Amino acid sequence: MTIYRHFYVKSHAITTPKINLKDLPGSAGRMDVLARCINSAFWLSYGIRRNVIFHTILHGEPNPPVYIRMEGEKLRKVSPDERSIAIFIKKALERMKEGMEVESTSGIFVSKKSFEELLEENKDKDFYLLDEKGEDIESIEISNKPFFFLGDYKDLEEGEKEILFKYGATPISIGKKSYLSSHCIAIINWILDKRNFD
Ligand SMILES: C[S@@+](CC[C@H](N)C(=O)[O-])C[C@H]1O[C@@H](n2cnc3c(N)ncnc32)[C@H](O)[C@@H]1O
Repeated sequence: MTIYRHFYVKSHAITTPKINLKDLPGSAGRMDVLARCINSAFWLSYGIRRNVIFHTILHGEPNPPVYIRMEGEKLRKVSPDERSIAIFIKKALERMKEGMEVESTSGIFVSKKSFEELLEENKDKDFYLLDEKGEDIESIEISNKPFFFLGDYKDLEEGEKEILFKYGATPISIGKKSYLSSHCIAIINWILDKRNFD
């Protein structure tokens, strides 16, 4: 049975398709950070990790929250570079419809959804909050239904962490230093590879 790896990154990227692809770190609300997280979640040197499901909620203006889910088993034609990933996010924002989930391109789903709704829909999984001050991941047995939560260039807010803890989330740390979220995802993938989570 396949073990799926779920990642959520809270994003502050903008929620309009009018994205300047030459200015992802600026006017697009650090969409470059989100794109690098997506790169780290999915790409191996020879292909895509089919057992990864990546979730984000965009919190930027003008129309937050926008929920985007990417499913490794169905992803097609996306390249690992930031520009290509941003083009697919732009397509998702262009094709979003109120009141329903749309598959904007193969394996990419978009809808209006709050953080609470996302947690409620996924409560069958085991939640892990990535937190420098959490329990050392080396001493933790990760479940076979893991769902990891991270901030982008800012941490999750206290209120969001509280909701996660109500759903039984475990805070886990990969070290005392504060790493980039994309690097945290690469490290988690590497740890799960070493533990044969496939
Ligand atoms: C760049 S850090 C956030 C930066 C900083 N804490 C802030 O808010 O200004 C992005 C995310 O990576 C995760 N993270 C960074 N270092 C970590 C570590 N050593 N252990 C676990 N998670 C970490 C946390 O989820 C954090 O929200």
